[in-house]
Amino acid sequence: MTKTAITAAPILPVLAERWSPRAYDATYEITQHELLSVLEAARWAPSGNNTQPWRFSVATRGTDLFNQIVTGLSGFNAAWSPHASAYVVVSVTTNHTDGTPVKSAKFDAGLTTSQLVIQAHELGLHAHIMGGIDHEVLTKVLDLPAGVEPVVVVTLGKMAPANTLEGPAYEREIAPRTRLSLDEIVLTGKP
Ligand SMILES: Cc1cc2nc3c(=O)[nH]c(=O)nc-3n(C[C@H](O)[C@H](O)[C@H](O)COP(=O)(O)O)c2cc1C
Repeated sequence: MTKTAITAAPILPVLAERWSPRAYDATYEITQHELLSVLEAARWAPSGNNTQPWRFSVATRGTDLFNQIVTGLSGFNAAWSPHASAYVVVSVTTNHTDGTPVKSAKFDAGLTTSQLVIQAHELGLHAHIMGGIDHEVLTKVLDLPAGVEPVVVVTLGKMAPANTLEGPAYEREIAPRTRLSLDEIVLTGKP
């Protein structure tokens, strides 16, 4: 299934075509090349002062860690996401070495996650960002050091037909992608 955006101006094809499915092929095994490629794309994201506060935890389906990460997802996410081939947990270091906060940490996490997701789509994979997570559980199962906090979990894998889902996940899978119009998001300020 494709959900290519109808855009008000031409944009990069990968940006128009990327979307976040919940139906994944439970037989597809992600390759090391694919994992390396998405992590490398994430590594080259910009960050405030080039601090690069992001840290990644990777688990492939069938491993103990993958199953433990499922326990750190909201009920909705835990129901649809385990067919994905891998989870990438994006965490951030919250403080500089001198103890002062990394002010841009979550912003930087968004940028690196965006690059990871776009690279995944360019490889013919799909990715889905999940903010519905239990931070305490993930910190524990990932054994994150003090000062490292999970921000989102990203699914990676190959898409499956929508009808492999049911209930709200199915409804969302077949719903069109929508966005506010440019008129609504571009502020014109005082004339
Ligand atoms: C920070 C963030 C948190 C999100 N959390 C969830 C989530 O917990 N569960 C979920 O199913 N989708 C989640 N999403 C996916 C969004 O719902 C999705 O990106 C949005 O509806 C736009 O759809 P599209 O990516 O297909 O264009 C999240 C996305 C972002 C960026």
